[in-house]
Amino acid sequence: MQVRNYINGKWVEARSGEWYVDLNPATEEPVAEVVKSDERDVAAAVEAAEAAFEKWRKVPAPKRAEILYRAGQLLVERKEQLARLLTQEMGKILPEARGDVQEAIDMAFYIGGEGRRLLGYTAPVELPNKFGMAIRDPIGVVACITPWNFPIAIPSWKIFPALVAGNTVIFKPATDTPATAAEFVRIFEEAGLPPGVLNLVIGPGPTVGNTLVEHPTVKAISFTGSTEVGRDLYARAARHLKRVSLEMGGKNAIIVMEDANLELALEATLWAAFGTTGQRCTACSRLILHKPIKEKFTEMLVERAKQLRLGNGLEPTTDVGPLINEAAVRKVHSYVEIGKAEGARLLCGGNPVKVNGKGFFYEPTIFDQVRPDMRIAQEEIFGPVLSIIEAESLEEAIRINNSVNYGLSSSLFTQDVNKAFQAIRDITTGIVYINHGTTGAEIQFPFGGTRGTGNGHREAGLTAIEFFTEWKAVYVDYSGRLQRAQIDTTAFGQVSVQ
Ligand code: UN1
Repeated sequence: MQVRNYINGKWVEARSGEWYVDLNPATEEPVAEVVKSDERDVAAAVEAAEAAFEKWRKVPAPKRAEILYRAGQLLVERKEQLARLLTQEMGKILPEARGDVQEAIDMAFYIGGEGRRLLGYTAPVELPNKFGMAIRDPIGVVACITPWNFPIAIPSWKIFPALVAGNTVIFKPATDTPATAAEFVRIFEEAGLPPGVLNLVIGPGPTVGNTLVEHPTVKAISFTGSTEVGRDLYARAARHLKRVSLEMGGKNAIIVMEDANLELALEATLWAAFGTTGQRCTACSRLILHKPIKEKFTEMLVERAKQLRLGNGLEPTTDVGPLINEAAVRKVHSYVEIGKAEGARLLCGGNPVKVNGKGFFYEPTIFDQVRPDMRIAQEEIFGPVLSIIEAESLEEAIRINNSVNYGLSSSLFTQDVNKAFQAIRDITTGIVYINHGTTGAEIQFPFGGTRGTGNGHREAGLTAIEFFTEWKAVYVDYSGRLQRAQIDTTAFGQVSVQ
């Protein structure tokens, strides 16, 4: 399989003529040969997007939305095929890959509705025979830079709202998941999106990503990825005064209180910590246990974690797939070494593994006796490594929960409604779950976080089109004479009836 760029409605090779090989992380076999783009490909894509913008912005929004609905329908029809490719390229187990596609279907139909909303507002004005309103304009050419862990869902959170609002898009997917990205773009092509409105450019962040950020025609950048890259991107974009939305890391915790349904908390913790092999921004990597149940719950958890089956995500017997690549295995393992050196107690896991002699697998790993200030309790590992921290009270648990430099998702298990509402009030992350793990956000609510997780924006939900539109205030004076606001009004409290 060969994967090419999609620029101005055509599938094209990179200007460099270079290719790289995209690997299946479970088998280490090639999935595709992929174009390796550089600045010249970005320039061509931006030129196409700029030209297309002049037409696309004038297409009535309800008509733009019809293309989204058609894309949504094609995603429904191709869900299984896309999910299988996604599993082969990224490694997550098939049911999760289907969920990844489903999230894009949900987004298409949810945000397609904006075609008949894109709501602005009117408000009264202070002078007679004058009208005021605030309307939304598209921004122009926008860049969507996306990670490999949700190769369809996350691009859909960005591309669908950008398009319905009338922008044109340059899509730069992660270099680990280009084949899935190309199949996603093919859906838009088949749905009838005009040439140039959505362009795909595949290549490394330091060339393709940075060129997009620096290009004067690209007006906004929506980025999901690592904190390190996001911070650098934000600084570069600031020099150009560009609009940037960042969604980065997490260090999400589940708190389990003495009165919790422990069986439920157990299932939820296994899913949130080891699902997607811990490679979700929302994955649970800290487990804060209330002292009275700590020992019992830890035992229950370790017993179950040891039974999780590693393997190829296409096999129905697999619980946990591989990490994305060799570098990820090295990173996760280095954190396990750090945890041991910090004095945490390894209860299970802690080793890289091969399945049938292949693959970038890592054992589900649990550390006990973790102090909240240890690096394994503070830094994002992005793998199947869970740190157990003890708390004496709900207040202490919430304090520990909030005391990291990330703020995406938190979860509390309790049967006490008072404790639940206390936690909802006092937890300072962008997403809070009660009696549910830290993963599984739905697209009709804002997605994003506080502190080092982002820069204040939220994706999805009512907030989705906020980022992709520019406000325009419009005043229409139909009095036929010069009326000066703030000046030609009557004195305070006096009314002139004309
Ligand atoms: C991510 O890992 O960046 O809430 C996205 C969830 C998914 C999305 C995760 N719906 O876990």
